[in-house]
Amino acid sequence: HEEFTKVKNIATVELGKYEIETWYFFPFPPEYNDCVKLFFCEFCLNFMKRKEQLRRHMRKCDLKHPPGDEIYRSGTLSMFEVDGKKNKVYAQNLCYLAKLFLDHKTLYYDVDLFLFYVLCECDDRGCHKVGYFSKEKHSEEAYNLACILTLPSYQRKGYGKFLIAFSYELSKKEGKVGTPERPLSDLGLLSYRGYWTRVLLDILKKHKGNISIKELSDMTAIKAEDILSTLQSLELIQYRKGQHVICADPKVLDRHLKAAGRGGLDVDVSKLIWTPYK
Ligand code: COA
Ligand code: NA
Repeated sequence: HEEFTKVKNIATVELGKYEIETWYFFPFPPEYNDCVKLFFCEFCLNFMKRKEQLRRHMRKCDLKHPPGDEIYRSGTLSMFEVDGKKNKVYAQNLCYLAKLFLDHKTLYYDVDLFLFYVLCECDDRGCHKVGYFSKEKHSEEAYNLACILTLPSYQRKGYGKFLIAFSYELSKKEGKVGTPERPLSDLGLLSYRGYWTRVLLDILKKHKGNISIKELSDMTAIKAEDILSTLQSLELIQYRKGQHVICADPKVLDRHLKAAGRGGLDVDVSKLIWTPYK
């Protein structure tokens, strides 16, 4: 990527009604070198250097939601599935936008190979992006999520947990276990740890009798290694007679559940209309 020069950073982006400060440097193409603010069309995600260009664009752009299939709708929340191959420019622009808030992920990957699940809050003006996650169409490593972002204007409202829960609901429909691609960012890990803790401990609390990690994995689509590491970090695993044993003292579970924070928005599976990618 020698053609990209590391001259100046994009400090803010305008997206819909929000002006958002960026978190990380991203090498946009050289024609953006003199540019500290980018104007995104919130619907098609084309970006421009000047407000006037965006105004002109908005008069012509007739997209009111992400390109692709609406696979979930509950109240004002909708999820769209965008195929990176069919909507290449949109997918690339989404990755550009995400990279401004992601430190470590290489986003120069081939968008053709990914599906993008874009979560929106909808009103009479259209569907406004809240966040998204991407997912490889075919993952050898059982990844069910490559990259996750909640736009800063919408963070800490439970959308991250919703996106994570959604990725596991898709895995359940596929009849597979899944795990997020590594490395996770600090905020990503926090969100996942909270999700895993809540889901697993809710089951352990209700369950009577023995339960194995394999059974937990079958019920939740969470990969066995992630279950083990979550329970180990909570010190709920003992090793007895060559076996892992889960200790489920209700008082201890309640304490951990409390510490794991709010559950956030629930995915209503009855509203998910989706068949796995073939
Ligand atoms: N400080 C401390 N804890 C935080 C936090 C922050 N700024 N942001 C999230 N968390 C933790 C909290 O435990 C929170 O639960 P709580 O609000 O009940 O305490 C939990 O993570 C998830 O919160 P939620 O509101 O569901 O998530 P979100 O919509 O804010 O999205 C991310 C979480 C990770 C998607 C979001 O922070 C993000 O997009 N970050 C930038 C991109 C990124 O790092 N992606 C992950 C790459 S692996
Ligand atoms: Na990620």
